[in-house]
Amino acid sequence: MSRTKKLGVIFDLDGVIVDTAKYHFIAWQQLAQSQGWTFTAADNEQLKGVSRVRSLELILSWNKANISSELFERLLKEKNERYLSLIRDMDESEQLPDVLRVIEQFKAMGCKIALGSASKNARPILNKVALTPYFDAVVDGTNVSKAKPDPEVFLQGAEALGISPEACVVFEDAAAGIEAAHAAGMMAIGIGQPTHLGHADAVFPNFTVIDDALLKQLINGQ
Ligand code: BG6
Ligand code: MG
Repeated sequence: MSRTKKLGVIFDLDGVIVDTAKYHFIAWQQLAQSQGWTFTAADNEQLKGVSRVRSLELILSWNKANISSELFERLLKEKNERYLSLIRDMDESEQLPDVLRVIEQFKAMGCKIALGSASKNARPILNKVALTPYFDAVVDGTNVSKAKPDPEVFLQGAEALGISPEACVVFEDAAAGIEAAHAAGMMAIGIGQPTHLGHADAVFPNFTVIDDALLKQLINGQ
């Protein structure tokens, strides 16, 4: 693990700050059903950290389906409308456990905080869960041209914070996100299972097991 002291902390959104995968799953499944395609919970796992466009491309390939570009665009729009209606009533009660404690602790240690998400809905979601005021920078799917595992989203995050990449630590739940953080030259902490995230610098099932002493160790590069 890198020994550089960390000055910036970059959080992924979906699966790290809020469990949106269940809503993405319902929206994609409804869409797939409307087209006579199959889409399972196992398929949904493979879409974590994957952009909306790439997700639809994968669902098409799994179903060996070919559609016109017009229908492709219409389905992307329809999926997002379904997703937005599912998250309409989301509020701060949907923050994943101890996310706020961890953010507040990092702030107390003088770190700057950024969001680095593939989602084009990241800003409204951050607002819904009442965390926007804690973020010094937000980089999301509306800002980047290359999806994770490309490091673009995290490099933009570090730049927006004015902190060098090696002084940043990333929290991610997707394998491609861990790869992206490493490609950016950052420490990558996995939130989830080691089976998926074994290439991270450390993996924790959730934030409740990362106590304040451990957060200090991460920041001090120990
Ligand atoms: C990622 C999610 O954060 O954002 C993916 O893990 C999702 O499942 C992607 O497809 C894009 O999200 P959105 O909100 O732009 O459709
Ligand atoms: Mg994620």
